[in-house]
Amino acid sequence: MDTLTDIAVQKAEQSRLPEVDLDNPGFGKVFTDHMLEMEYKNGEWKQPVIKPYGPIQITPALSTLHYGQSVFEGTKAYYIDGKTVNLFRPEKNYERMANSCERLCIPKIDRETFLEGIRKLVKLDHKWVPEKDGNSLYIRPFACAWDTQVAAKVSDTYRFYIILSPVGSYYDAPVRLITSQNYVRAVEGGFGEAKTAGNYAASFYPARKAQQMGFSQVLWLDAFDHEYVEEVGTMNIFFLIDDVLITPPLGGTILPGVTRDSVLKLARSWDMDVEERKIGMTEVMEAARSGKLQEVFGAGTAAVISPVKEIRHHGELITIHEDGRGPVGQKLYDTIYGIQRGKLEDRFNWTHSIEVA
Ligand code: COI
Repeated sequence: MDTLTDIAVQKAEQSRLPEVDLDNPGFGKVFTDHMLEMEYKNGEWKQPVIKPYGPIQITPALSTLHYGQSVFEGTKAYYIDGKTVNLFRPEKNYERMANSCERLCIPKIDRETFLEGIRKLVKLDHKWVPEKDGNSLYIRPFACAWDTQVAAKVSDTYRFYIILSPVGSYYDAPVRLITSQNYVRAVEGGFGEAKTAGNYAASFYPARKAQQMGFSQVLWLDAFDHEYVEEVGTMNIFFLIDDVLITPPLGGTILPGVTRDSVLKLARSWDMDVEERKIGMTEVMEAARSGKLQEVFGAGTAAVISPVKEIRHHGELITIHEDGRGPVGQKLYDTIYGIQRGKLEDRFNWTHSIEVA
């Protein structure tokens, strides 16, 4: 496919920014003045257009509503100063979206269109990038089936959108997790590694049960033994046991997180002992009982580095951190967020600056 970097812009007549409190935006509740839209029909993606953010017209027979043939991404833009905004590793989001598209039979979006679409949209709406420490502009690209037909089949038409939302932290308090022996998030051969709506929809019922029991989320275990740790659904998971940083390996059932990858690269660059390997709950609980479980935290674009306060497994509750992150989680958060905000040296060339003025 040809590179489609020519993006037409229709500007909103009036900005809604004066109505928004950028210091307290919540998460994913308010959206900026513009969005990017691109249509796929007759076997090709058409020219993208940036237009005023607003409702889109669909029919009740829209195939996405019935069969969930849809994929999405999450990345962020960070305030540097009045002239510059940073993106963080957006090419990794492109790679993951391309893989998710492949798995969901959605025609691949051109790389430059995806990256240039983000850059152009963020530049146009840069005044929405929050300056407050901890806040950022969440970028949500997504693609979905657009056929008007209730047959369960691969769609012939699609839409791709990018929308932007100023956000604060995803978790306001340290996370409390519970494992499940009855429900699983993904199974080998399924689509656990794709960022697709169905993975989230399937997790809501068990997550609601967990919340009714006072927990924030389910800590997902493998589908066969209900023993090996997978991820949290909203973030990947890390354990610090006896000074070794351990995270489950990517194997098709776990989302390949950009923050996960950044944590691994940073920890290795600090000469920490790092292991990507299967980790069972028996090991986690034993480490907690013997005092060797030093830290547990989740890593994700929305979650950044979120400390896990407690885990309940088979009726036994372990408490890891009473409040806040442990020293390693805190160092990772400070380093990743410091690089994102342009306050620390970017040794890995992770950030892409956008000149906005
Ligand atoms: C992200 O971290 O970007 C996600 O998509 C997670 C979602 C729960 C907001």
